[in-house]
Amino acid sequence: MLLFRSRSGAVDEDEALRFLEEFHTESGTAERASARARAVREEIRRTGTYRHTPQELEYGARVAWRNSSRCIGRLYWRSLRVRDRRDVADAAGVAAECVAHLREATNDGRVRPVITVFAPDGPEGKGPVIHSDQLVRYAGYPGHLGGVTGDPAGVGATRIATGLGWQGVGGPFDVLPLLVEGRDEPVRWFALPPDAVLEVPLTHPDLPTFAGLGLRWHAVPAVSNMTLEIGGVKYPAAPFNGWYMGTEIGARNLADTDRYDMLPAVADLLGLDTRDDATLWRDRALVELNVAVLHSFREAGVTITDHHTEARRFLSHLAREESAGRTCPADWTWIVPPLSASATPVFHRLYTDADLRPNFVRRAP
Ligand code: ARG
Repeated sequence: MLLFRSRSGAVDEDEALRFLEEFHTESGTAERASARARAVREEIRRTGTYRHTPQELEYGARVAWRNSSRCIGRLYWRSLRVRDRRDVADAAGVAAECVAHLREATNDGRVRPVITVFAPDGPEGKGPVIHSDQLVRYAGYPGHLGGVTGDPAGVGATRIATGLGWQGVGGPFDVLPLLVEGRDEPVRWFALPPDAVLEVPLTHPDLPTFAGLGLRWHAVPAVSNMTLEIGGVKYPAAPFNGWYMGTEIGARNLADTDRYDMLPAVADLLGLDTRDDATLWRDRALVELNVAVLHSFREAGVTITDHHTEARRFLSHLAREESAGRTCPADWTWIVPPLSASATPVFHRLYTDADLRPNFVRRAP
């Protein structure tokens, strides 16, 4: 197995041992730690890597969430469902399991946090890679006059998919196909079956004309472009999801000027004067757009949370972590919500951040 060592570098033995020690300490299985450490050290020396037990994988994936310093939703890190698909490395197999992941996570609207872990980088070669940022994303089609139909953040993926032979209908909310590179395979595209992608059309509780904007969003945010790192082992394909916080959709995806840029249209509906910044038309439109998102998901029976609730929960999470004797790494610039920041308790304090492992690590695009 010198092949693995020379090609992609062997697993770092110290990182492996550090992870195993933490696993056994936190699991209350300290008596088994030294035998496992000996076996893993031997396996790494022989093969360049080691295979996690199912328990180590489950714990590692959950702690990767716990260590995600940008995530406000970590209170429920222990509830993450871990789908162990380490035997899957081919593109078609990965795509099929991503569809199964979406169905399990969607759960008819009662969204469950799920991760699917595919084959790691190892002696048999690199693990598979999902090139889509998320399992569900909308296409973006550049128009003649510089505008984009759809999600401007989807333009790159749309171009790749189109280049591979996919054809979108050219609408504002076309679900992109998954872009998957299997082990020793070229990138391929796979259309998601429509019944695996739950979406919510947006309406406003007291503005009947809001529905006419034709806005919608999908139920499950499933990040698929990060590498899961556990004890020195890299899992390049490990899509994971929680549920949405309303502001992600209402204050960013649909509102940012380099995304759907809907504030002017919403302000028009509200009859606001958009020529004068000081009328705060953007702020007022933002609030109503976010009201619409939370209202529509709730009406549709799809799990969603608001930023006030989530900010409070995050502070309980911090307190819990501290009483467990851990410091919880947090990045203020990501934890603080993009709407009404100072009206939430997470705004009024600072955090210590740290780049811990296990974790989800951003890949070069
Ligand atoms: N912000 C991203 C989006 O709007 C999703 C990131 C993960 N979000 C989550 N609630 N788990 O699609």
